[in-house]
Amino acid sequence: MRAVLDRIKQRKEEFAQIPLIQFMQDQSIDPRQRLAWAPCLAPFAMNFKDFNRQVLYQEPASSKIQQLLNEHSQEDGRHWVWFLQDLKLLGFDQMFSYTDMLRFLWGEETRKTRRLCIDLFGMCAFEENPLMKLVVVEALEATGNVALYETAQVAKALKEITHQHHPYFSASHYAVESGHIQAEMTHSEIEEFLEQIELTEADQRKAFLLVDRVFAAFTESMDEMLTFAQTHSYDQVLVTRKYQREKVAA
Ligand SMILES: [Fe+2]
Repeated sequence: MRAVLDRIKQRKEEFAQIPLIQFMQDQSIDPRQRLAWAPCLAPFAMNFKDFNRQVLYQEPASSKIQQLLNEHSQEDGRHWVWFLQDLKLLGFDQMFSYTDMLRFLWGEETRKTRRLCIDLFGMCAFEENPLMKLVVVEALEATGNVALYETAQVAKALKEITHQHHPYFSASHYAVESGHIQAEMTHSEIEEFLEQIELTEADQRKAFLLVDRVFAAFTESMDEMLTFAQTHSYDQVLVTRKYQREKVAA
C-alpha cells in the first residue's frame, strides 16, 4: 500500500494547486463570493450520504478493512446535514424554487460534479474487494483534506462578517477529516495499518487507476465550480454575470 499512499500524496500536492483553491485563497474577493460555488457541490455532498451508507457500508463486516469502511461511512455519511445548514446560512433557501433547483441540480452547471458521483458509484458499487474501496476512500479523504482546509479559511473570514458558524465549510469539519479513513483508531495506528497492507501487482495497477480517476474527476468538478463562481454573483446564483451586464446595457 506504500506505493499507493505515495501516489495519493503526489496527486494531493497537484490538487492543492488547482485554480479553485487559488480562488478561495484570494483575500481581495468577498468570502461569500469565494463560496459562491457552494450550491454546485450539492450533487456530491448529497450523493455522498448514499455513497457512504449504501455502497461503502456493508454488514456484517467480513474483514478488518470492511470494519474500517463501516466506521468511516457512519461518520462521513452524516456530514450532508452540515452542508444543508451552510446553504441555509449562505442564503440559498431564498433563491431557488423547487423546479429551479431541479433544473440546476441536473443542469449544465453541475454536469461534471454529477459525473464525479457516477464515477465514485461506478468504482465501488459492484466492487467485491474492500481494499479497492479503501483506496477510493483514501483518495477522497486527500481531496477533502485539501478542499476543507481552504474552505475553513474562507469560513473564518466569513464569520467575521456574519458572526455565524458554518458547520460544513468551517474548521470543525476539517478537524474530523484527518486525511485518512475515519475510524476508531488513532492517526498513527491508521497509517501503520495502511502501510502494512500488501497488494498484488494487479491490485496495485488497479489502485493507481482508481486514485488517478478520483483526483481527475474531482479536479474537473472543481474547475466547473470555479467557472460558476466567476460568472455568478453569490446573491443571485441563478443569473449569470453576462446576463446582468446585458440587462444593464439595454
Ligand atoms: Fe465530511
